[in-house]
Amino acid sequence: MSAPDVPVLRGARCVLRPLGINDAPSLQLHADNELVWRNLFEGFPRPYTLADAQNWCAVTSHSPAMGLVWGIERDGQIVGCISVRPESGWMRCNAEVGYWIGQAYWRRGIASEALRLVTSWAWASLPEVTRLFAPIFAWNEGSQGVARKCGYDKEAELRRSAIKAGQVIDRVQWAAIRPINPGANAIIQP
Ligand SMILES: CC(C)(COP(=O)(O)OP(=O)(O)OC[C@H]1O[C@@H](n2cnc3c(N)ncnc32)[C@H](O)[C@@H]1OP(=O)(O)O)[C@@H](O)C(=O)NCCC(=O)NCCS
Repeated sequence: MSAPDVPVLRGARCVLRPLGINDAPSLQLHADNELVWRNLFEGFPRPYTLADAQNWCAVTSHSPAMGLVWGIERDGQIVGCISVRPESGWMRCNAEVGYWIGQAYWRRGIASEALRLVTSWAWASLPEVTRLFAPIFAWNEGSQGVARKCGYDKEAELRRSAIKAGQVIDRVQWAAIRPINPGANAIIQP
């Protein structure tokens, strides 16, 4: 099944929309922060240059490998990103979610609204997906709070399961399962 286009999703606190090249300056402003970098995957740039931001905006608009990536817009600028990346083959009923918000916008309910919007959208628009999961660094209480607030459950401790900044670290896995109701059942293609 081919990936759908990235739709615009509107909430009370933010708007989720596809990134364009003009978003690179605000993306760089918020991404170039050690407190953001330390909680994200090993390849997240540090420092985060304008060229990194331009590349991310360009790549996410056409790369199926990235999954679906939304810029999180607030006050007319991009203040973070959220993504959903469905797996393939016999694991295609799983999709990984990831998100970050620039430090200037923390604790305003933006990440939890964005995750709620994307989760609802995934159940409605990715008919094969039954499970959304978020592997979170074990020390990251903030991100676990976001997942908990959005109805995700902590399902596993992934001990010594990733490398960040040269250190092997523990992660915890949070997940949401497709709600069981007649309109929300998964449709698996043969
Ligand atoms: C973690 C992060 C996404 C939270 O974004 P946010 O928009 O500030 O989160 P919200 O305002 O929606 O917070 C929702 C809940 O999460 C919890 N939470 C969020 N930040 C927290 C923090 N720093 N410490 C403890 N709990 C926190 C709280 O329970 C909060 O609810 P409350 O404000 O009503 O108490 C943001 O701090 C961030 O991007 N950090 C760096 C990158 C990162 O960690 N990304 C996630 C990788 S898995």
